[in-house]
Amino acid sequence: MEDIWRQLEAELDRAKSLPEIEQVRIKYLGRKGVITVLAKNTDFGKLSAEEKKSFGQRLNSLKSRAEEAVRAAAERASREAVPQDGATGGPDLSLPGTDRRLGAMHPISLVQRELEDIFQGMGFRVLTGYEVETEYYNFDALNIPPDHPARDMQDTFWLEDGRLLRTHTSANQVRALEQFGAPIRAIFPGRCFRNEAMDASHENTFYQLEGLLVDRDISVAHLIGVMKTLLSAVFHKEVTVRLRPGFFPFVEPGFELDVQCLICGGVGCATCKRSGWIELIPCGLVHPRVLEFGRVDTSAFSGFAFGLGLTRLAMMKFGIPDIRLFNSGDIRFCEQFPVSM
Ligand code: DAH
Repeated sequence: MEDIWRQLEAELDRAKSLPEIEQVRIKYLGRKGVITVLAKNTDFGKLSAEEKKSFGQRLNSLKSRAEEAVRAAAERASREAVPQDGATGGPDLSLPGTDRRLGAMHPISLVQRELEDIFQGMGFRVLTGYEVETEYYNFDALNIPPDHPARDMQDTFWLEDGRLLRTHTSANQVRALEQFGAPIRAIFPGRCFRNEAMDASHENTFYQLEGLLVDRDISVAHLIGVMKTLLSAVFHKEVTVRLRPGFFPFVEPGFELDVQCLICGGVGCATCKRSGWIELIPCGLVHPRVLEFGRVDTSAFSGFAFGLGLTRLAMMKFGIPDIRLFNSGDIRFCEQFPVSM
């Protein structure tokens, strides 16, 4: 039996492919296999009770060791199996590759890139500022002095050195005016931070896209024209907008731009809270004081600005019900959004 075992081991060692291993199995364990025949041909009647027992045990042990060895060899062979190219005997390099998960674009990135395209088509440059900002650019230069109640509306994360995490992308306005002067057309997409109590529609970290256009003889008509062009491009249809008065210290006049609800067409539904309108873009004509902070000649230039909630827009465009999904870091979330829509 020990000879049989050693022989079997050696043959299994040489058998690399599954068919070869199957041959070894048949040779030893098949109906006419060496081990089977050994058991069949033994005349147990001639053996003493003692011999019967010890022979039977050794035979059973040989059989189960043999079965286990064949099983292990087959498993190893199928793990190591490389598809063979019939012609060369080497690996088949024409087989398709394995499916590697390469990740997916985040919905904010998708919307941001789409908006950048649209605005670049209208002559806007894309600029990014600083997520850690000074109090001056985030507030003072936007006509929000230290004692102004508008500061209370943005619960700010202050750093120990007196700087802050920008509460809005408007902080870029005066920086850009200082750097580039008038005329200017720029958008500033980016991440903003506020100390919000988080729920389905409030996050402490969210994205805005600020826009600034300063040129000669700019009026509200230009603002509406650009906003309508933008919204039609984003939603792939003509949208109806309306302006309501809105207060922001850095614009005068200031507006809330609403779009007619894209879900119900203005009749009233749950999305628009039965009003037929959705508040989407706060905007206005740049306050002369902001232009002065940016060292722009206010006798020659005027402009408009807007602050689009990128996160909100992505929620509307893709029908995302909970803002907390954006920062969840879950690839299964990102994988659901088509690269172009
Ligand atoms: N920065 C404002 C906010 O985050 C939004 C805003 C309002 C931006 C009016 C603008 C604007 O550019 O003109 O609440």
